[in-house]
Amino acid sequence: MSTFSAPKGTYDLLPPDSATFLAVREAISAPLKRSGYGYVETPGFEQVELFSRGVGESTDIVTKEMYTLTTKGGDQLALRPEGTASVLRAALQANLHKAGVLPVKLWYSGSYYRYERPQAGRYRHFSQVGAEAIGAEDPALDAELIILAVDAYTSLGLSNFRLLLNSLGDKVCRPVYRAALQDFLRALDLDEETRRRIEINPLRVLDDKREAVQKQLAGAPLIADHLCEACKAYHEQVRELLTAAGVRYEDDPKLVRGLDYYTRTTFEFVHDGLGSQSAVGGGGRYDGLSEMIGGPALPSVGWALGVDRTVLALKAEGIELELPPATQVFAVPLGEEARRVLFATVTELRRAGIAADFAFGGKGLKNAMKSANRSGARFAVIAGERDLTEGVVQLKNLESGEQIPVALDTVVAELQAKLA
Ligand code: HAM
Repeated sequence: MSTFSAPKGTYDLLPPDSATFLAVREAISAPLKRSGYGYVETPGFEQVELFSRGVGESTDIVTKEMYTLTTKGGDQLALRPEGTASVLRAALQANLHKAGVLPVKLWYSGSYYRYERPQAGRYRHFSQVGAEAIGAEDPALDAELIILAVDAYTSLGLSNFRLLLNSLGDKVCRPVYRAALQDFLRALDLDEETRRRIEINPLRVLDDKREAVQKQLAGAPLIADHLCEACKAYHEQVRELLTAAGVRYEDDPKLVRGLDYYTRTTFEFVHDGLGSQSAVGGGGRYDGLSEMIGGPALPSVGWALGVDRTVLALKAEGIELELPPATQVFAVPLGEEARRVLFATVTELRRAGIAADFAFGGKGLKNAMKSANRSGARFAVIAGERDLTEGVVQLKNLESGEQIPVALDTVVAELQAKLA
């Protein structure tokens, strides 16, 4: 035990669980990689203003949850609380939107930081895999992204998740709805802070989790009834494309999400086995974000799926992923000469694509065999002085216990054949 432990709200990823984590990242990114999305990586921190302008001055993320710092040079930076603003910033900076055909399709995977109250499924450091399609207004693009997320969850074997879908309108119909909602909310019995929120960001009030507030919201005007013709038609096309792809969704007219950049399509994936932190992923269209951060008009859409919560969802459904074995062959040398020979064999096995490990630290036979069994390997290659003088090694099947001598110079080929 060290004097130190991981900071509050964080945890370490360690073997064997870390292998599941990697596999989840891989499973989420696989459908993106075969759909034209290129990998993007941005710094872990950005100028504070990118997020306050992009994510929104009045959001919890910006007002309460950002890890901000002033550098020795006087720059105001924030650890990234999300990926969309950074990815769009990077695309604009590199002029990707001018270089080729639109949309620019990008995917990313990394760590994000929010100073939230930690609880099960809610961490201060967490992982997302995300995707952004920048510079096109096309319902098929919204549908594509949603389908790819569904395919990712399904490929992991998950079934207990639901897709909540809404449209938040655009700059034509949203202001009209906003005003109607404000009129309704102002007449309610609400506390000071919520009253302030009505004036800055009334849609967020719909997301208030308190029962007393939710009760009063029963008759609130809904965006669905205020969408302009263009937004209505757009949303209908997204829904049709999803239905045609066999994707089930639930219309959720109160879904607003915690980031301010959304327009039109917004969605969230919730998993029913996770308790209060049930959102395993979310996203939507953000047609105005580029202009908000100083770029040209670039209608865009994207999502981010939470890797930590997806791993929790697997546990909740009792799913164990079939992962490639960490070690297939374990070498056990008995004596100095065998150590030298088997170390070379292990190197050769690895170069031949076989996962191999070695009894390091000069262990005796008993301890070395314990390590071999613990490694999960299917075969042990054992050799002592007598074997080597005969030009053989002992090949032991660790599942059946059967052991046979094999010529040293054919053991790699033999193992390749047995493991194929
Ligand atoms: P978000 O809904 O804030 O969206 O985060 C996406 C997912 O990240 C959540 O559904 C959740 O699974 C995971 N997540 C968020 N906060 C935490 C936390 N404190 N602990 C564990 N997991 C967490 C975004 O971040 C947007 N950038 C998504 C997007 C991309 N919209 C358009 N493009």
